Amino acid sequence: MGRYAGKEKKLLEKLYNIIDYYGLSCSYRGINVPKEMKKKYGKTYYSKYNKNAYLKMRQDYNENKDNVLLLYLLLIYGFNHMIRFNSKGDFNLPVGNVDFNKNVYKALINYLNFRKNNEVIFENTDYQKFLNNIDIKEKDYVFLDPPYLISMSEYNKLWNHKKEVEMCNFLDELDEKGIKFGITNLIYHKGKENVTFNKWSKKYNVYDVDSNYISFNDNTIKSTSKEIFVTNYKKNN
Ligand SMILES: C[S@@+](CC[C@H](N)C(=O)[O-])C[C@H]1O[C@@H](n2cnc3c(N)ncnc32)[C@H](O)[C@@H]1O
Repeated sequence: MGRYAGKEKKLLEKLYNIIDYYGLSCSYRGINVPKEMKKKYGKTYYSKYNKNAYLKMRQDYNENKDNVLLLYLLLIYGFNHMIRFNSKGDFNLPVGNVDFNKNVYKALINYLNFRKNNEVIFENTDYQKFLNNIDIKEKDYVFLDPPYLISMSEYNKLWNHKKEVEMCNFLDELDEKGIKFGITNLIYHKGKENVTFNKWSKKYNVYDVDSNYISFNDNTIKSTSKEIFVTNYKKNN
């Protein structure tokens, strides 16, 4: 942490204070789950250890929803680092099976460094509308991480085969305009195949993705799923 002076240091201190206040584990700082608990609960010991602290943090966040650091930590300690709110607007994901570890730290610092030299704008709109409204230049790069047609997720509910086809056509148009793109998608999952995307991808370059998803209920998920990254250019490595 010594290398990160100023704002970053203050932010990390605030996050660590919250983590310690609730008594969450923080493997990055050596605050680990006790060995006996690791032995007893096998692969789910983080969720067992952090559950009560996480639920208290979630309750506190939902009381007024103005503490964005609590929301960030709910994402870090919550199920699969996801974000989900119920119809009342309350954050409602259960505890996850991870904590603030080395990878979380690295991702945060990389993001903060990126923000120093780049302007980031968030938009909440349909991807086609967004991309059609901006002037994409030759050196620009379009990355898409669409909902998955063949897996169960809240945000997949509004996605369907028609939209998948539209998306593939849309990417073909980008390719014709000479715009580089990259897209991730799931082509096999629990016995299902995304035939449309799988066929379409063969026109381009396909790379396997080593997915780190750990399912809370089903730790066989890795062996039954295949995720790919498709590009219309050759990757260097
Ligand atoms: C696989 S998730 C991507 C998650 C995100 N990249 C991340 O790492 O957290 C797919 C996302 O696409 C969004 N989505 C669904 N339909 C969309 C549309 N027509 N235009 C833009 N985004 C859409 C969903 O709400 C969901 O957040």
